[in-house]
Amino acid sequence: MTDTTATTAGVSHVHTVTAATDDAMRTLGRDLAALARPGDLLILSGPLGAGKTTFTQGLGEGLGVRGAVTSPTFIISRIHPSLAEGPALVHVDAYRLGGPEEIDDIDLDMTLPDSVTVVEWGEGVAEGLADDRLEIHIERHPDDTRTVHLRPVGARWADIELPGTAAGHG
Ligand SMILES: Nc1ncnc2c1ncn2[C@@H]1O[C@H](COP(=O)(O)OP(=O)(O)O)[C@@H](O)[C@H]1O
Ligand SMILES: [Mg+2]
Repeated sequence: MTDTTATTAGVSHVHTVTAATDDAMRTLGRDLAALARPGDLLILSGPLGAGKTTFTQGLGEGLGVRGAVTSPTFIISRIHPSLAEGPALVHVDAYRLGGPEEIDDIDLDMTLPDSVTVVEWGEGVAEGLADDRLEIHIERHPDDTRTVHLRPVGARWADIELPGTAAGHG
């Protein structure tokens, strides 16, 4: 499914993917890892328990990084180095951050160029880190399935065929 949202940068297509199980959510993360490059910023939103960390676990698996991807209560940002030659995963939980001013204090711009940076609860907080980003909103349904809305922003993602997107769709 593809819908269209007007933005200041032109027209941005929101790709919608269904993740019926937590495994499907991890697979989506792995599929995105295959597309990810150093400098990428992924902003995750959706309520508590939506599957933001589950998605990030798949991303970490796909990138082949060291350490378990978890949601520790008192850690805002954790760097998972690559076990091979690839980019590190920088996993941020912005839940406790007050806003864009506070995300500046954790110096994500230092690691951003060489890493894949994922910010849980990043909506309204992390957009200023990069002009090009993938905004991922997870919707949780009563039957425990999830709908994932992938919104590419900027030239980096303009011609990328996102997972769950039928060939030929923009
Ligand atoms: N379709 C699904 N997608 C993602 N998680 C699911 C799904 N169905 C059940 N779950 C469960 O929901 C929980 C999601 O938790 P988590 O990924 O920590 O969410 P968040 O980081 O958004 O708070 C996990 O226990 C996961 O196993
Ligand atoms: Mg989480």
